[in-house]
Amino acid sequence: VTVTPVGGSFGARVTGVDLRSQVTPAQKDAILQAFHVYHLLCFPDQDLAPADELRLLELFNPAQSMVEGAGPCLPGYPEILIVSNIAEDGQPLGLTNKVSMEWHTDNSEIPYPPIASLLYAVEVPRTGGETYFANGHLAYETLDAATRASLDDRRCRYSWVQLQEWLAAADGSLPVMNDEQRALHPDLMRPLVRVHPVSGRKALWFTIESVISIDEMSRPESRALLEGLIDHIVKTPYVVYRHDWEAGDAVVWDDRCVLHSVCEYNYADQRRLMHLSVGRGPDRDC
Ligand SMILES: [Fe+2]
Repeated sequence: VTVTPVGGSFGARVTGVDLRSQVTPAQKDAILQAFHVYHLLCFPDQDLAPADELRLLELFNPAQSMVEGAGPCLPGYPEILIVSNIAEDGQPLGLTNKVSMEWHTDNSEIPYPPIASLLYAVEVPRTGGETYFANGHLAYETLDAATRASLDDRRCRYSWVQLQEWLAAADGSLPVMNDEQRALHPDLMRPLVRVHPVSGRKALWFTIESVISIDEMSRPESRALLEGLIDHIVKTPYVVYRHDWEAGDAVVWDDRCVLHSVCEYNYADQRRLMHLSVGRGPDRDC
Protein backbone atom coordinates (compact mmCIF):
# COMPACT_ATOMS: atom_id res chain seq x y z
CA VAL A 1 0.00 0.00 0.00
CA THR A 2 1.48 3.33 -1.09
CA VAL A 3 -0.02 6.54 0.29
CA THR A 4 0.74 9.77 -1.58
CA PRO A 5 -0.65 13.08 -0.28
CA VAL A 6 -2.51 15.07 -2.93
CA GLY A 7 -1.06 18.28 -1.48
CA GLY A 8 -2.74 21.02 0.49
CA SER A 9 -3.96 20.17 3.98
CA PHE A 10 -5.63 16.79 3.47
CA GLY A 11 -6.33 13.98 1.01
CA ALA A 12 -4.13 11.21 -0.33
CA ARG A 13 -4.00 8.72 -3.17
CA VAL A 14 -3.72 5.07 -2.19
CA THR A 15 -2.17 2.70 -4.71
CA GLY A 16 -0.88 -0.85 -4.60
CA VAL A 17 -4.18 -2.32 -3.51
CA ASP A 18 -6.76 -4.13 -5.65
CA LEU A 19 -10.15 -3.63 -4.05
CA ARG A 20 -11.79 -6.42 -6.07
CA SER A 21 -10.72 -8.81 -3.34
CA GLN A 22 -10.47 -8.73 0.44
CA VAL A 23 -7.56 -6.60 1.68
CA THR A 24 -5.09 -8.20 4.09
CA PRO A 25 -5.08 -7.17 7.78
CA ALA A 26 -1.81 -5.28 7.15
CA GLN A 27 -3.34 -3.43 4.19
CA LYS A 28 -6.41 -2.58 6.25
CA ASP A 29 -4.22 -1.17 9.04
CA ALA A 30 -2.31 0.97 6.54
CA ILE A 31 -5.55 2.24 4.97
CA LEU A 32 -7.12 3.13 8.32
CA GLN A 33 -3.94 4.87 9.46
CA ALA A 34 -3.94 6.93 6.24
CA PHE A 35 -7.66 7.69 6.68
CA HIS A 36 -7.04 9.20 10.11
CA VAL A 37 -4.09 11.25 8.90
CA TYR A 38 -5.47 12.44 5.54
CA HIS A 39 -9.28 12.35 6.10
CA LEU A 40 -9.87 11.59 2.39
CA LEU A 41 -8.46 8.72 0.35
CA CYS A 42 -8.65 8.21 -3.41
CA PHE A 43 -8.10 4.67 -4.71
CA PRO A 44 -7.52 5.26 -8.45
CA ASP A 45 -7.89 2.82 -11.36
CA GLN A 46 -10.28 0.47 -9.62
CA ASP A 47 -12.77 -1.76 -11.42
CA LEU A 48 -15.34 -2.46 -8.76
CA ALA A 49 -18.51 -4.51 -8.63
CA PRO A 50 -21.16 -3.19 -6.23
CA ALA A 51 -20.18 -5.80 -3.61
CA ASP A 52 -16.57 -4.55 -3.83
CA GLU A 53 -17.76 -0.99 -3.19
CA LEU A 54 -19.58 -2.08 -0.05
CA ARG A 55 -16.59 -4.11 1.15
CA LEU A 56 -14.41 -0.99 0.78
CA LEU A 57 -16.91 1.17 2.70
CA GLU A 58 -17.08 -1.49 5.40
CA LEU A 59 -13.37 -1.16 6.13
CA PHE A 60 -14.52 2.05 7.85
CA ASN A 61 -18.14 1.49 8.92
CA PRO A 62 -21.08 -0.80 8.13
CA ALA A 63 -22.99 0.09 4.97
CA GLN A 64 -26.47 1.43 5.51
CA SER A 65 -29.53 1.26 3.24
CA MET A 66 -30.46 4.63 1.79
CA VAL A 67 -33.44 6.32 3.40
CA GLU A 68 -36.58 5.50 1.42
CA GLY A 69 -37.19 8.24 -1.12
CA ALA A 70 -33.55 9.38 -1.20
CA GLY A 71 -33.34 8.45 -4.88
CA PRO A 72 -32.76 5.52 -7.24
CA CYS A 73 -30.45 2.79 -5.95
CA LEU A 74 -28.61 0.01 -7.80
CA PRO A 75 -30.93 -2.97 -8.31
CA GLY A 76 -30.34 -5.36 -5.41
CA TYR A 77 -28.21 -2.82 -3.54
CA PRO A 78 -30.35 -0.48 -1.42
CA GLU A 79 -27.08 0.83 0.10
CA ILE A 80 -25.83 2.26 -3.21
CA LEU A 81 -27.45 5.44 -4.52
CA ILE A 82 -27.02 6.24 -8.20
CA VAL A 83 -25.93 9.84 -8.78
CA SER A 84 -26.20 10.66 -12.46
CA ASN A 85 -27.46 13.03 -15.12
CA ILE A 86 -28.19 10.16 -17.52
CA ALA A 87 -31.76 9.42 -18.59
CA GLU A 88 -32.76 6.22 -20.36
CA ASP A 89 -36.09 6.18 -22.23
CA GLY A 90 -36.87 9.49 -20.55
CA GLN A 91 -36.35 7.97 -17.09
CA PRO A 92 -33.55 9.45 -14.95
CA LEU A 93 -31.06 6.77 -13.95
CA GLY A 94 -30.18 8.42 -10.67
CA LEU A 95 -30.33 11.48 -8.50
CA THR A 96 -29.25 14.69 -10.22
CA ASN A 97 -28.34 17.94 -8.51
CA LYS A 98 -29.17 20.70 -10.99
CA VAL A 99 -28.77 23.44 -8.40
CA SER A 100 -25.07 22.87 -7.80
CA MET A 101 -23.15 24.09 -4.73
CA GLU A 102 -24.39 22.66 -1.45
CA TRP A 103 -21.86 22.21 1.35
CA HIS A 104 -22.85 19.29 3.53
CA THR A 105 -21.88 16.15 5.37
CA ASP A 106 -23.76 13.00 4.39
CA ASN A 107 -26.74 11.90 6.47
CA SER A 108 -26.19 14.52 9.18
CA GLU A 109 -29.99 14.66 9.48
CA ILE A 110 -30.65 11.06 10.48
CA PRO A 111 -29.68 8.86 13.46
CA TYR A 112 -26.28 7.17 13.36
CA PRO A 113 -24.46 9.62 11.08
CA PRO A 114 -21.62 7.99 9.15
CA ILE A 115 -17.94 7.65 9.85
CA ALA A 116 -17.26 7.45 6.11
CA SER A 117 -18.89 7.73 2.69
CA LEU A 118 -17.72 6.34 -0.64
CA LEU A 119 -18.16 7.79 -4.11
CA TYR A 120 -17.15 5.52 -6.98
CA ALA A 121 -16.83 7.08 -10.43
CA VAL A 122 -18.18 4.89 -13.22
CA GLU A 123 -18.49 7.51 -15.99
CA VAL A 124 -17.24 11.08 -15.75
CA PRO A 125 -17.76 14.14 -17.95
CA ARG A 126 -14.83 15.56 -19.90
CA THR A 127 -15.07 18.79 -17.95
CA GLY A 128 -16.95 19.81 -14.83
CA GLY A 129 -18.59 17.48 -12.35
CA GLU A 130 -15.72 17.74 -9.89
CA THR A 131 -16.40 17.45 -6.17
CA TYR A 132 -15.22 20.00 -3.63
CA PHE A 133 -14.12 18.73 -0.24
CA ALA A 134 -13.34 20.95 2.76
CA ASN A 135 -11.13 20.19 5.76
CA GLY A 136 -13.45 20.93 8.68
CA HIS A 137 -10.55 20.88 11.16
CA LEU A 138 -8.59 23.54 9.32
CA ALA A 139 -11.76 25.54 8.65
CA TYR A 140 -12.34 25.69 12.41
CA GLU A 141 -8.73 26.26 13.41
CA THR A 142 -8.29 29.21 11.02
CA LEU A 143 -11.15 31.14 12.65
CA ASP A 144 -10.08 33.70 15.24
CA ALA A 145 -10.26 32.64 18.89
CA ALA A 146 -13.31 34.74 19.74
CA THR A 147 -15.28 33.31 16.81
CA ARG A 148 -14.24 29.76 17.73
CA ALA A 149 -15.41 30.31 21.30
CA SER A 150 -18.73 31.71 20.07
CA LEU A 151 -19.36 28.59 17.98
CA ASP A 152 -18.12 25.85 20.30
CA ASP A 153 -21.35 25.00 22.11
CA ARG A 154 -23.85 25.85 19.40
CA ARG A 155 -26.42 23.22 18.44
CA CYS A 156 -28.07 22.96 15.06
CA ARG A 157 -31.59 21.72 14.44
CA TYR A 158 -31.49 19.37 11.44
CA SER A 159 -34.45 18.47 9.28
CA TRP A 160 -34.37 15.50 6.92
CA VAL A 161 -37.73 16.68 5.60
CA GLN A 162 -36.31 20.05 4.63
CA LEU A 163 -33.32 18.39 2.95
CA GLN A 164 -35.56 16.07 0.94
CA GLU A 165 -37.65 19.00 -0.21
CA TRP A 166 -34.50 20.79 -1.29
CA LEU A 167 -33.20 17.68 -3.08
CA ALA A 168 -36.55 17.15 -4.80
CA ALA A 169 -36.37 20.72 -6.10
CA ALA A 170 -32.69 20.33 -7.08
CA ASP A 171 -33.34 17.04 -8.87
CA GLY A 172 -36.64 17.92 -10.50
CA SER A 173 -37.96 14.35 -10.55
CA LEU A 174 -37.85 13.13 -6.94
CA PRO A 175 -41.30 12.78 -5.37
CA VAL A 176 -42.20 15.19 -2.59
CA MET A 177 -42.74 13.49 0.80
CA ASN A 178 -46.24 12.96 2.14
CA ASP A 179 -47.23 13.60 5.78
CA GLU A 180 -46.71 9.96 6.76
CA GLN A 181 -43.18 9.98 5.40
CA ARG A 182 -42.43 13.31 7.06
CA ALA A 183 -43.52 11.93 10.42
CA LEU A 184 -40.88 9.19 10.16
CA HIS A 185 -38.09 11.78 10.27
CA PRO A 186 -38.23 14.04 13.31
CA ASP A 187 -35.73 16.90 13.60
CA LEU A 188 -32.40 16.16 15.32
CA MET A 189 -30.06 18.39 17.32
CA ARG A 190 -26.39 18.21 16.39
CA PRO A 191 -23.27 20.21 17.30
CA LEU A 192 -21.97 22.88 14.91
CA VAL A 193 -18.43 22.11 16.06
CA ARG A 194 -17.82 18.39 16.21
CA VAL A 195 -15.04 16.79 18.22
CA HIS A 196 -13.42 14.00 16.25
CA PRO A 197 -13.66 10.81 18.35
CA VAL A 198 -10.25 9.52 17.23
CA SER A 199 -8.07 12.63 17.24
CA GLY A 200 -10.00 14.89 19.63
CA ARG A 201 -9.62 17.73 17.12
CA LYS A 202 -12.58 20.01 16.59
CA ALA A 203 -14.14 20.51 13.15
CA LEU A 204 -16.77 22.75 11.62
CA TRP A 205 -19.59 20.35 10.81
CA PHE A 206 -22.87 21.28 9.13
CA THR A 207 -25.20 20.86 6.16
CA ILE A 208 -26.53 24.23 5.13
CA GLU A 209 -29.67 23.01 3.35
CA SER A 210 -30.95 20.92 6.26
CA VAL A 211 -30.21 23.16 9.25
CA ILE A 212 -33.44 24.89 10.22
CA SER A 213 -32.02 26.89 13.10
CA ILE A 214 -29.06 27.22 15.44
CA ASP A 215 -29.89 27.48 19.14
CA GLU A 216 -32.26 30.40 19.73
CA MET A 217 -31.36 32.16 16.49
CA SER A 218 -33.98 32.76 13.81
CA ARG A 219 -33.84 30.89 10.55
CA PRO A 220 -32.42 33.84 8.57
CA GLU A 221 -29.83 34.51 11.29
CA SER A 222 -28.84 30.84 11.37
CA ARG A 223 -28.53 30.71 7.60
CA ALA A 224 -26.45 33.90 7.59
CA LEU A 225 -24.08 32.39 10.17
CA LEU A 226 -23.60 29.26 8.04
CA GLU A 227 -23.15 31.31 4.86
CA GLY A 228 -20.46 33.29 6.67
CA LEU A 229 -18.70 30.05 7.61
CA ILE A 230 -18.90 28.82 4.02
CA ASP A 231 -17.39 32.11 2.90
CA HIS A 232 -14.53 31.46 5.33
CA ILE A 233 -14.15 27.88 4.06
CA VAL A 234 -13.94 28.80 0.39
CA LYS A 235 -11.67 31.81 0.88
CA THR A 236 -9.12 30.30 3.27
CA PRO A 237 -6.12 28.75 1.52
CA TYR A 238 -5.69 24.98 1.87
CA VAL A 239 -9.15 24.34 3.35
CA VAL A 240 -10.76 23.18 0.06
CA TYR A 241 -9.57 20.34 -2.15
CA ARG A 242 -11.23 19.86 -5.55
CA HIS A 243 -11.31 16.29 -6.76
CA ASP A 244 -11.14 15.98 -10.54
CA TRP A 245 -12.69 12.61 -11.18
CA GLU A 246 -11.29 9.88 -13.39
CA ALA A 247 -13.41 6.84 -14.12
CA GLY A 248 -12.35 4.13 -11.65
CA ASP A 249 -11.69 6.51 -8.76
CA ALA A 250 -13.06 5.27 -5.45
CA VAL A 251 -12.95 8.14 -2.96
CA VAL A 252 -13.63 7.61 0.74
CA TRP A 253 -13.77 10.50 3.19
CA ASP A 254 -14.25 11.02 6.91
CA ASP A 255 -17.73 12.50 7.33
CA ARG A 256 -16.89 13.56 10.89
CA CYS A 257 -14.44 16.24 9.72
CA VAL A 258 -14.86 16.71 5.95
CA LEU A 259 -17.61 18.70 4.24
CA HIS A 260 -18.27 18.36 0.53
CA SER A 261 -20.18 19.91 -2.33
CA VAL A 262 -20.90 19.19 -5.96
CA CYS A 263 -19.59 21.48 -8.67
CA GLU A 264 -21.59 22.39 -11.74
CA TYR A 265 -21.10 20.72 -15.11
CA ASN A 266 -22.64 20.85 -18.53
CA TYR A 267 -25.65 18.56 -18.43
CA ALA A 268 -26.56 18.82 -22.08
CA ASP A 269 -24.12 16.49 -23.80
CA GLN A 270 -22.07 14.80 -21.12
CA ARG A 271 -22.61 11.71 -19.02
CA ARG A 272 -21.80 11.38 -15.36
CA LEU A 273 -22.46 8.19 -13.41
CA MET A 274 -21.39 7.85 -9.78
CA HIS A 275 -22.25 5.39 -7.03
CA LEU A 276 -22.64 6.74 -3.50
CA SER A 277 -22.67 4.59 -0.39
CA VAL A 278 -22.80 5.97 3.14
CA GLY A 279 -21.92 4.17 6.34
CA ARG A 280 -23.72 3.88 9.65
CA GLY A 281 -21.78 5.46 12.49
CA PRO A 282 -21.75 4.12 16.03
CA ASP A 283 -23.59 6.95 17.75
CA ARG A 284 -27.21 7.97 17.71
CA ASP A 285 -26.11 11.54 18.31
CA CYS A 286 -22.76 13.25 18.05
FE1 LIG B 1 -22.84 14.04 -0.16
